Amino acid sequence: MNATATCGTSAGVDRHEEILSIKQLRTTLGSRPGGVTVVDGVDLSVRRGKTLGIVGESGCGKSMLSLSVMGLVPPPCRVEGRIEFSGRNLLDLSPAEMRRIRGNRIAMIFQEPMTSLNPVLTVGFQIVEAMRAHDRKSSYEVLRRRAIEALVQVRMPAAERRFDEYPHQLSGGMRQRAAIAMALSCKPEVLIADEPTTALDVTVQAEILDLLRDLQQETNMAIVLITHDLGVVAQVADEVAVMYAGRIAEKATCDALFADPQHPYTLGLLGSIPRMDQAATRLLAIDGVVPPVASMPPGCRFHPRCVFSGQECTRHRPELTAVADGHAVACLKAPIEEGQS
Ligand SMILES: Nc1ncnc2c1ncn2[C@@H]1O[C@H](COP(=O)(O)OP(=O)(O)OP(=O)(O)O)[C@@H](O)[C@H]1O
Ligand SMILES: [Mg+2]
Repeated sequence: MNATATCGTSAGVDRHEEILSIKQLRTTLGSRPGGVTVVDGVDLSVRRGKTLGIVGESGCGKSMLSLSVMGLVPPPCRVEGRIEFSGRNLLDLSPAEMRRIRGNRIAMIFQEPMTSLNPVLTVGFQIVEAMRAHDRKSSYEVLRRRAIEALVQVRMPAAERRFDEYPHQLSGGMRQRAAIAMALSCKPEVLIADEPTTALDVTVQAEILDLLRDLQQETNMAIVLITHDLGVVAQVADEVAVMYAGRIAEKATCDALFADPQHPYTLGLLGSIPRMDQAATRLLAIDGVVPPVASMPPGCRFHPRCVFSGQECTRHRPELTAVADGHAVACLKAPIEEGQS
């Protein structure tokens, strides 16, 4: 991916400056009392031209985190903390100010490409409408040309013809390309991609990941890529945050996470993916499931599933603690070596 991109400055502009910084984000669904906290004290940041992978099992809060950044959490809800973008806290913006940023400077590819496109409208009409939301001056013909260019940019086969087709006329991969074209139509600085390849077969998945990487190199956008698949993270992410039950369990560069994973949950996730270099006979699974948000265990939320947990893990919440430059772990038992149990 962007591993070969040059770090540093050009013409006084830092190509990899921090563009989005999330601080102590807390998202609570439902009205008080009895609301459930689905994102609980998350700190993350992403830089221009780089990809942050957010990985975790189903129900960990990945989508809620991204919807919180986009200001799209279903009401009634409360989003607290700071989401700094371009020097402003998005949580302080009025709905009108947020609408100017959403879909324009920060765009999102939603989970489930089959449902993110409206089935009764043509693909082209939907891209034109997405552009028109932020460009009321250009004529339909201009927007149409730009929409076709966007489809060409995402390598849509026969882009001009697809413009007039309905989503059901496209394959799953083409629908995902159309969703990406729509998200990129306003040239966002940050793209949040929520499971962009989950519904696709592996070859199409690889093509879409390649496409995102190429588009990132062309535009220098920051990408937040959400997935439950560490294989996807390994292919595209520069930095990775492992999320568990609404919190960050481990944060590191992609290389450090795979070379020196330290949180038992990360080790569990890594143990559940096949490796070509090892003659393993069976894959490991992490026993149990992510706890429901309404009944989170006290202390470390992972402790009921953790083979390393001790008494203190049931009582104390582990804070994210630096273990190396750019590598932080929230575990009272860390560092844990691979193979130890
Ligand atoms: N509208 C809602 N009302 C109440 N709880 C919700 C709602 N949407 C999600 N949740 C809960 O919030 C938690 C986080 O859900 P979220 O969709 O963010 O998980 P996720 O990590 O994106 O999972 P997946 O990988 O399946 O997409 C889950 O426990 C889920 O049950
Ligand atoms: Mg999700």
